[in-house]
Amino acid sequence: MNTQKQQEHLLDLQAKARLGGGQDKIDKQHAQGRLTARERIDRLLDPGSFEEFDMFKTHRCRNFGMEKTVFAGDGIVTGHGTVNGRIVYIYAQDFTVLGGSLSETMAEKICKLQDLAMKNGAPFIGLNDSGGARIQEGIESLAGFSDIFLRNVMASGVVPQISAILGPCAGGAVYSPALTDFTIMERKSSYMFLTGPKVVKAVCYEDVTVEELGGADMHSSQSGVSDYAAESTEDALAYIKRLLSFIPQNNLETAPIVPCDDPVDRPSKVLQTIIPDNTNMAYDMKQVILETVDNGDFFEIKEKFAPNIIVGFARYNGVSVGIVANQPAHLSGVLDIDSSVKGARFVRFCDCFNIPLVTFVDVPGFLPGTAQEYGGAIRNGAKILYAYAEATVPKVTVITRKAYGGAYCVMSSKHLRGDINYAWPSAEVAVMGSSGAVEVLYSRQAKAASDPKAFLAEKEAEYHDAVSNPYVAAERGYVDDIIVPATTRARIVRALALTQNKRDTNPMKKHGNIPL
Ligand code: HXC
Repeated sequence: MNTQKQQEHLLDLQAKARLGGGQDKIDKQHAQGRLTARERIDRLLDPGSFEEFDMFKTHRCRNFGMEKTVFAGDGIVTGHGTVNGRIVYIYAQDFTVLGGSLSETMAEKICKLQDLAMKNGAPFIGLNDSGGARIQEGIESLAGFSDIFLRNVMASGVVPQISAILGPCAGGAVYSPALTDFTIMERKSSYMFLTGPKVVKAVCYEDVTVEELGGADMHSSQSGVSDYAAESTEDALAYIKRLLSFIPQNNLETAPIVPCDDPVDRPSKVLQTIIPDNTNMAYDMKQVILETVDNGDFFEIKEKFAPNIIVGFARYNGVSVGIVANQPAHLSGVLDIDSSVKGARFVRFCDCFNIPLVTFVDVPGFLPGTAQEYGGAIRNGAKILYAYAEATVPKVTVITRKAYGGAYCVMSSKHLRGDINYAWPSAEVAVMGSSGAVEVLYSRQAKAASDPKAFLAEKEAEYHDAVSNPYVAAERGYVDDIIVPATTRARIVRALALTQNKRDTNPMKKHGNIPL
């Protein structure tokens, strides 16, 4: 074969490989409103930036006539490219080839990519669409899954790992996405579960649909497995692009700083009046966030899961930060099992990747009740405490209103190495709310009083005036300053500038033992 022919031969082989399982399978995928693996990669990466690896890799299985079912690439497209000019390593499972099922060789392709991402310090992105373990292979496939899981764990905290679920993801296959930092699911066309509805019916006698058992809406609002339920593949990919813009390439870098045209000292009239006179009335903490961040641009994570805590990314003077905020507009902003776990995981991600934390506090405490206690509120609440305590990134805290009890300690308090802690004049830093406190302190005297209700109301007002304000905490130095709400943006920007070169460490150890 002369050189010309050799090159034509290569182009032929490439064209054939690009067809995956064949045009009929591609048509079937399109007919279901789903994109192919290559189309997905093309839509995420900068045009022309994708370079494919292992396009000609094939499986080695000879069971069940598999020697006759061989496709170049073996059901997965892997390689690297750029998103907004920054390198990422990416794979997309190709459902047109044996349902994107995971073979020994597919696992090798993924592992190669994981190793490269880790060595070269770039994010690792997986676009999942697979029937799970390649049934014809058996143990080789399981071994492959395990090799991937190991690398997911090794890469954790080294490079950001992001998963999109764009089709089936069942059985043990769910654990690789679960080990990554962020999981995005596409509504209606994706699902994740350990065992499908048929097994659930046989074992638990429960009737449940695929959507109810493992759909994007359920995982994004109830289980917290997914960070976002995307309306479409395009929406899922746009979410990933935006997420990448806020985070660094690896744990040795900081996130990109973007030019900021929003004045750093822009005052906010809204914040002057946002706290209702009645301390038990709700307000929307998202408004506080939007009023203070650059251009009101806030990228929320897990919006639908445990909305009593808000987490997400934003920028102050172009510097990327992780925001954690109690949400008084939902369950009064109380900390419960789900919100504690949501907050803890986000704080730990930011700490892994050198992203400063800005925390807005309005929390009446931990949610009481048997459901919470039986569910391990103590163990789970300890997670957010642990996460804040071990975090060494800059930590800026603003108490807008309530900071009661254990929840005060937990929410990036001075005692957990908060760097700069501010309070608004409306802040109430106390062991508990005044009605609860008076109930404990004066219930006996109230019974003896001529008008118990009036007596308790008077004591409540007394307690509130004495304790539920920021000045006692300020006298002790537990808050660094009491600030005018309108100036919050300027103060946070300054606090972040002050702490930008912060260096703090934890004692040398193999690793801590977070209460899981
Ligand atoms: C081999 C598979 C496959 C698999 C699908 N295919 N899953 N081949 N191994 N796991 C093939 C089908 O035979 C079919 O081939 C093609 O992919 C498309 O599948 P369809 O069934 O036609 O598609 P659809 O109707 O959309 O259904 C998709 C599906 C279903 C729901 C994913 O295929 C399915 O239930 N698959 C099996 C799922 C499963 O039980 N996986 C193992 C889980 S256990 P042809 O040639 O007809 O096109 C597991 C353990 C991992 O993963 C443990 C790790 C620790």
